[in-house]
Amino acid sequence: MTPLRAVSGRVPSMQTESSPQDQPLASPAGTGAPHVVVVEGLSKYFGDRLAINDISFAIRPGECVGFLGPNGAGKSTAIHILLGLVRRSSGTIRLLGAEVPKHHQEVKAKIGVVPQIDSLDPDLSVEENLLTYAGYFNIPRRQARHKADELLAFFALENRRQEIITHLSGGQRRRLLLARALINEPQLLILDEPTVGLDPQSRHLMWERLDILRQQGTTMLLTSHYMEEVARLSNRVLILDRGEIVAQGDPEELITEMVGTEVFEVEGTDAELDRLAAEFSQCDATLERASGKLYIYTQEDCTRLVHLLGEQRTWLRRPSNLEDLFIHLTGRSLRES
Ligand SMILES: Nc1ncnc2c1ncn2[C@@H]1O[C@H](COP(=O)(O)OP(=O)(O)OP(=O)(O)O)[C@@H](O)[C@H]1O
Ligand SMILES: [Mg+2]
Repeated sequence: MTPLRAVSGRVPSMQTESSPQDQPLASPAGTGAPHVVVVEGLSKYFGDRLAINDISFAIRPGECVGFLGPNGAGKSTAIHILLGLVRRSSGTIRLLGAEVPKHHQEVKAKIGVVPQIDSLDPDLSVEENLLTYAGYFNIPRRQARHKADELLAFFALENRRQEIITHLSGGQRRRLLLARALINEPQLLILDEPTVGLDPQSRHLMWERLDILRQQGTTMLLTSHYMEEVARLSNRVLILDRGEIVAQGDPEELITEMVGTEVFEVEGTDAELDRLAAEFSQCDATLERASGKLYIYTQEDCTRLVHLLGEQRTWLRRPSNLEDLFIHLTGRSLRES
């Protein structure tokens, strides 16, 4: 068994030379290792509703792929299909080299899952939840106990070992869910909003633990609405909107290419913002008006902008980020799917 160690510091994220969209079936350069996940032309209808529309992507060993999209975009549906919980309408899927759902039984034991909706057994204790789950993988009892001890320590749950689930806080439950997902030492970890509803302390602890797993080479597919979480943990993102992949690649590269390097957020009256917008249109910048603000996304160091903004009442200059990319690709309005 690979021991879990709480280590400090970060390792550089593993960058890829080309996007899997270009070469969905190729092996990672130089490693000869096959992709952990290969999805091609996957679609899913629920009745007339097209929840997943012809998506293709691949995940290399050791990658952490951030799976983003607005509510109802189809992330959980795609995950459920990968896990054999929902039937696909069309497309092919290979997990750890095996075609699924046909060979799902064979790969199930190599996958760990943190579901969006808590699926812990409320009548069992923390430890019993882990041991019962280990039983589904036919892990010998002694080995399961040893692993459970290690995981309880790793997720700071040791002193809650005998507690029943209903007595745990939300953060403790999420930590236990992640511990449970690791009981079978999975080669692929699928996380559907693992830190939803957690306070900053619990979220940071989860990030630390996920980062350690990532450093140890665990391949991850991570769904989250926390852009900071995805930016910290993922070396590649896959953005889904209305069931379609609208972008995938290295997050920094996508941000620079599609949004720009810097963002100016300017407040002012409509007339002031109109005047500024007209002046800024001379720079290499993309403008957006939303919620009484003017957003200016720049590709260049536009000193002229700073000069013009000097007289404005309130403005903010900051580096562009993943949230800007997300909004750029999926819009600002609430999705009613
Ligand atoms: N069992 C189902 N029957 C009918 N429609 C479904 C079912 N499951 C999901 N859907 C629909 O499929 C679409 C995608 O839902 P899904 O849960 O995959 O979105 P999501 O990206 O995970 O969203 P969220 O961020 O809110 O978790 C939605 O329109 C949803 O209503
Ligand atoms: Mg979901």
